[in-house]
Amino acid sequence: MKWQASAPSNIALIKYMGKRDATTNIPTNASLSYTLTDLRTTVELESSTGADSWEALIEDFTLSEAAISRFLKHLETLKSKFNYQGHFIVRSSNNFPTASGLASSASSFAALTTVAAQALAELTASEYPPIEVLADWSRQGSGSSCRSFFSPWSIWDAEGARSCTLPYPKLLHQVVLISHEEKAVSSSQAHRLVTSSPAFAGRPERAEQRLQALINAFHEQDWAQAYQLCWDEFQDMHQLFETCKNPFSYMTESTHRVLRDLQSYWNTQGDGPLVTMDAGPNIHLLYRPDQEDHANQIKDLIHYAPFS
Ligand code: PMV
Repeated sequence: MKWQASAPSNIALIKYMGKRDATTNIPTNASLSYTLTDLRTTVELESSTGADSWEALIEDFTLSEAAISRFLKHLETLKSKFNYQGHFIVRSSNNFPTASGLASSASSFAALTTVAAQALAELTASEYPPIEVLADWSRQGSGSSCRSFFSPWSIWDAEGARSCTLPYPKLLHQVVLISHEEKAVSSSQAHRLVTSSPAFAGRPERAEQRLQALINAFHEQDWAQAYQLCWDEFQDMHQLFETCKNPFSYMTESTHRVLRDLQSYWNTQGDGPLVTMDAGPNIHLLYRPDQEDHANQIKDLIHYAPFS
């Protein structure tokens, strides 16, 4: 028997960085993300008589050994929730280039949780769990994946993840691809390392204040204010990386150059995209639907390998 599901990725504007509980991925602060409905992972499960294993769903798709074992460990956790002893072949792929440098753990874990719940509910004749429960289970595999269950906006705080109603339901997304190489410091390591930064002490308060201010800016449709808050937020997170005990940085010369170009674009035009960065060197841009001209101009301005 086979089951298949897909799930989207998401990009946080207020970042999840630092965990209160590392085993269950309880975040230090609330985060807010926009769901990237077009960037998806598909996961297929097939009942198997052997041990759980992973295969690529499409040609040329690969996962590192570490990623495969993390994925299978999450499947094990999900099976235990249904008291299921059987095994599966897990097949997965992303619809965005593997080498695009885009994080895929959010979409991967959300898709695996969804399809496993379908398979396990059917195989054990149990109820299919509500979406909040799926998000909660997914969080235990990859924190940020719990936000991918809700769209277009998702908020994740101490009570779990849920959708958030904001005035911009459809945004245009571009990525300035600075590097697609594997990161030297994974986001799991980053979550641990940042706690040693002197700036981490005030981080929950700063993130909380910025979250409220950003929600207000969106409600007031004050796009320039939203841009400033998103900018301050990713800089805040990257400052934590650069000021912890064993400092590290994802920012390259090219990252700095493109960020400067984006800032001067905003300064001259008085408008532009929301700019954010995850734990990596690439830059994410979000535009309102009426800003398509800006998106085209910026594409020309920064000469990046376009991917949207
Ligand atoms: O879900 P994780 O453990 O890969 O953490 C993701 C953390 C960031 O992408 C840097 C920020 C976020 O909120 O998505």
